[in-house]
Amino acid sequence: MNFENKIINGDCIEEMKRFPAGSVDLAFADPPYNLEKDYGIYEDSNSANDYINWTEKWLIEVIRLLKPEGSFYILNLPKWTLHHAVFLDQLLYRQNTIAWDALSIPRGKIMPAHYSLLYYTKSHHKYTFNKFTTKHNWTHCARGKCIKARKTSSLIEQPFSDIWTNVYRIKHRGKRHAHHPTQLPLTFMERIILTSSNEGDIVFDPFLGVGTTAIVAKLLNRKYLGIEINPEYVQESLRNLDQVLSFRSRLEFQQTRLMDLKNFL
Ligand SMILES: C[S@@+](CC[C@H](N)C(=O)[O-])C[C@H]1O[C@@H](n2cnc3c(N)ncnc32)[C@H](O)[C@@H]1O
Repeated sequence: MNFENKIINGDCIEEMKRFPAGSVDLAFADPPYNLEKDYGIYEDSNSANDYINWTEKWLIEVIRLLKPEGSFYILNLPKWTLHHAVFLDQLLYRQNTIAWDALSIPRGKIMPAHYSLLYYTKSHHKYTFNKFTTKHNWTHCARGKCIKARKTSSLIEQPFSDIWTNVYRIKHRGKRHAHHPTQLPLTFMERIILTSSNEGDIVFDPFLGVGTTAIVAKLLNRKYLGIEINPEYVQESLRNLDQVLSFRSRLEFQQTRLMDLKNFL
């Protein structure tokens, strides 16, 4: 079966079973967080036990699809990634636990202000890792020596750390698909795809939403495979991918950073 550059409408557990083991170089999963979000078809409110059991079912399939040198990232609320880590640590090698600083509206108590991104590889030592750099703005030390160092270091590109502060959520409705509550920013996926895949690799997302992973994979000359249960979101992904094609031919994306695309998609 040809599964390159495909977006499939269906349930990811069922659909993944149709693909041979060891098919994808990089998998990224941004599942529903059990937060009662309105995804149209999927019911995002389950008991904790049901949610965890369901998660383990699809995780097993994702691991099966990964190539021996493949990488896997999973984004969720910290309370769920604790469960994911206990499960996944038995099957894969955890490389990092990343905190994505995505500040929300103050809600009293201790405000939840980060998402957790787990980064795993199937092999302990053999996997793709391309150094990706960003500009840091360190502000956590007031010693004169550190302030001086900051003045120079904040201007130069450095490898990123496991705290991601300079990737911004798409909060304004006007900037995202009208009926999708949790669309990710392109720059978030850019970082993951550049770090853990090479041109020509297959990038897989079992919860594709409105296509962020596929769009960025396409822009970066990777192949994509995505599954999404809601047909409306699948149509939106296909529309976005069409636009990416015309954007590429007009502006030669190779020389452009994704930031410039923000207003285009
Ligand atoms: C958190 S959203 C992903 C958003 C995506 N990262 C984006 O940027 O558009 C989770 C998605 O999973 C989809 N979904 C829920 N259950 C699914 C299932 N069993 N199989 C495939 N997709 C599913 C939902 O419809 C929703 O679009």
